[in-house]
Amino acid sequence: MTEQSKIPLPGESADTRSLIERAAGQYDLRAFQAPAAPRLPEVREPAPMMPEAAEPAAPVQRVAPPARPVLAPPAFEGIPARQAFRGTFHPIDRKHLRQQCLIEPEGPVTGLLEEFRIVKRPLLLTAAESRAGRGAPHGERILVCSAHPGEGKTFCAVNLALSLAAEKDTEVLLVDADFAKPSVLSALGLPGGRGLMDVLADPALAVEDCIIGTDVAGLFVLPAGNSSGQDTEHLASAYTAQVLGRLSSQAPNRIVIFDSPPVLAASPASELAHHVGQALMVVRADQTGEAALRDAVSILSGCDDIKLLLNCTRFSPTGRRFGSYYGYKE
Ligand SMILES: Nc1ncnc2c1ncn2[C@@H]1O[C@H](COP(=O)(O)OP(=O)(O)OP(=O)(O)O)[C@@H](O)[C@H]1O
Ligand SMILES: [Mg+2]
Repeated sequence: MTEQSKIPLPGESADTRSLIERAAGQYDLRAFQAPAAPRLPEVREPAPMMPEAAEPAAPVQRVAPPARPVLAPPAFEGIPARQAFRGTFHPIDRKHLRQQCLIEPEGPVTGLLEEFRIVKRPLLLTAAESRAGRGAPHGERILVCSAHPGEGKTFCAVNLALSLAAEKDTEVLLVDADFAKPSVLSALGLPGGRGLMDVLADPALAVEDCIIGTDVAGLFVLPAGNSSGQDTEHLASAYTAQVLGRLSSQAPNRIVIFDSPPVLAASPASELAHHVGQALMVVRADQTGEAALRDAVSILSGCDDIKLLLNCTRFSPTGRRFGSYYGYKE
């Protein structure tokens, strides 16, 4: 991913060069991974009961947890899954996105837009394979992570979500999973609200009621919620698997992206890895060291499919230069 100092508009000049260096395939990341730590049995105590999404003026319905697997994906009946979300709706200020160097929906074709078009394709392919029963389960859940703070996880997670939302057959749920330092809402210019950690801490709260709808077609956001001090333990619970199962089984065309905390600085990342089928490891050019990368990959042993995304590059040895072909000049 190229370093973006500003997203140039058509006719404007820019001083950045384009480059995507996805190193997946160049490294055998499995060699870095420690053998998967033995997991405790999934159900350590009776899981809390999953609430139905709240109906106005109706008491919270408690439903006895079904036997595992908790929620089998229902057959897709052509009903847009976004109807299942009942949280608030907020428009996203496009100017704010531009100022944050984020992809502007309905905006001009930029180098950034083109780069994320390239980045999302193998992720979508893996998700489709997973849905078809090939490869690892839950390929539709993608953890965007990195070894250290400030390497571009949120930048990449939000841009990836915006890029995926533009797909005709896909809807995206962007989950802020950096509970200690959430920043997805501010990146998108959305107001705060209850989120995933509130849902995990309070079984009476339905996750559907916390999801924010936006005026970007197909884009939904689940805030981080209030950090409980026991975030990692909540994430390791069987109830988390139920909640996430509910989110991804509601619609076969939904991709769920998690903006992770830094793997080497916060323990929730390793637990999140157990819930996803793919991880996108952001590596900041000239900053992330190989030892840190090895260590981070080792900690994410819960996920078998880790793809690398080299971020903030300024030089392309092969002359990659996305964006200029559509009339936008760099
Ligand atoms: N390719 C890029 N071009 C320009 N700016 C970038 C790029 N990648 C990241 N940034 C900027 O770098 C800063 C850090 O990025 P970001 O917040 O996404 O990192 P992070 O890994 O999520 O950090 P944290 O671990 O603290 O949450 C932000 O200001 C972001 O806009
Ligand atoms: Mg972040």
